Amino acid sequence: MMLKEKILVLDFGSQYTQLIARRIRECKVYSEIMPYNVPLKNIKEFEPKGIVLSGGPSSVYDKGAPLLDPEVFELGVPVLGICYGMQLMAHMLGGKVAKARMREYGRAGLAIDAENSLFKGIKKSLTVWMSHGDRIEKSPKGFEMLAHTENSPIAAIGDRKRGFYALQFHPEVAHTEKGREIIKNFVYKVSKARPLWTMKSFVETSKEEIRRRVGNRRVVCGISGGVDSSVAAVLVHEAIGNNLTCIFVDNGLLRAGEAKKVEDTLKKSFKMRIRCVDASERFLRKLKGVTDPEKKRKVIGNEFIRVFEDEAGKLKDVAFLAQGTLYPDVIESVSFKGPSATIKSHHNVGCLLKRMRLKLVEPLRELFKDEVRLLGRELGMPDEIINRQPFPGPGLAIRIIGEVTGERLEILRKADSIVLEEVKRAGLYNELWQAFAVLLPVKSVGVMGDERTYENVVALRAVNSVDGMTADWARLPYDLLGKISNRIINEVRGVNRVVFDISSKPPSTIEWE
Ligand code: XMP
Repeated sequence: MMLKEKILVLDFGSQYTQLIARRIRECKVYSEIMPYNVPLKNIKEFEPKGIVLSGGPSSVYDKGAPLLDPEVFELGVPVLGICYGMQLMAHMLGGKVAKARMREYGRAGLAIDAENSLFKGIKKSLTVWMSHGDRIEKSPKGFEMLAHTENSPIAAIGDRKRGFYALQFHPEVAHTEKGREIIKNFVYKVSKARPLWTMKSFVETSKEEIRRRVGNRRVVCGISGGVDSSVAAVLVHEAIGNNLTCIFVDNGLLRAGEAKKVEDTLKKSFKMRIRCVDASERFLRKLKGVTDPEKKRKVIGNEFIRVFEDEAGKLKDVAFLAQGTLYPDVIESVSFKGPSATIKSHHNVGCLLKRMRLKLVEPLRELFKDEVRLLGRELGMPDEIINRQPFPGPGLAIRIIGEVTGERLEILRKADSIVLEEVKRAGLYNELWQAFAVLLPVKSVGVMGDERTYENVVALRAVNSVDGMTADWARLPYDLLGKISNRIINEVRGVNRVVFDISSKPPSTIEWE
């Protein structure tokens, strides 16, 4: 990023780290997340106006607890520590941290005791969200106490001179009253960052950065038909024009009619160079007999890489691979960015890069889905692509529990089309994060006409979410549920029962595999 007004978030493994970055960007100041142990050199190069230390699951006294390079405190840059970030600041700057007698989770009443920039313009008592086991017993030198709760006599501290502040509670979560205001104060008043970041400026700086990185060399981009890869492709195309070639791999695991629609739009509206490969047969062959979810993902990921490599190999002088990786993909798949655990493996293109000697261009890797949609709109992409619900890389394969066969794909495609049609007709498509059908490896008895049937069960999944990280099952109207069930059972041969999934994420995931 060439922008000067930026805040850096260092990740110590909190599930809320990404929310901190979002809240800062909502203040129109660009924010990025880096792992807590990123080399000091990278931090200096980023030139942050302020640094936030996230929360995390550790205790500063744990063996191997994540620590910070002490030089970070010498950069002359304001620092805000949240939860673990607070304890770490206290621990490293000479205060005292101890196990709290009472662990504090959930709501707590905060009383603000001292005037200061962080709480400027905010009332004196707030409901805040706590989640911690340790607490500060003694503030480090130079810090004054700013606020307390019943169980944390030291719930907020600050050193005005250095612009160091630390909070025991989480200002980034929606349950903390005036949390946004507190973050805004840190960004504007303490760090003195100005609100210059908009999607327009993001487009400009990203284009500059892509051009600087790529120069006159060629780039390939795999497009899947989803929002992310399409937006990434359009952005790179805007930056370098026809030095970009897109490869669309039809893995045969897409929804009905999907491949064609996306190809048409990108070719017609954006005049991009796109090569389409129909590799359905290859994928199906490889999936024969595979039932384990992680194995499926690996098989599909590997085959994708092979097909892609074959196709990209036909192009001359390609030096970069562009991908539409988003922030949640990054944290959910690898611990690149911090200590969050692996949940499901996403495509890993590492070996492709190595074998083809390609470098990665990932212009969306700091963004969330809703931000990618804003970006797509800024780039003038049609609603039809931008508002498309997310669709996983492994496609329908991870919505067919058990073995993926041509026949089962056909059943699921038909059921899935009905779900989408009815959800759209009910005017709910744009409101829902995702709505789809899952084919279960279960048969159940039914009766059709006078005959007993013994057929497949389809599960209907519909969720609301802001970023795919957490989700709640959507309370679809009964009429709509009835209509979908009726139509699937009547129109899709091989299905005689439809059930509705009422699990939230966590502890379930959105996809079934
Ligand atoms: P889960 O099932 O992990 O899904 O709750 C979260 C969001 O990510 C999508 N998803 C994927 N997207 N490749 C993708 O590009 C994948 O392997 C993948 N797995 C899940 C899922 O559809 C949901 O929106």
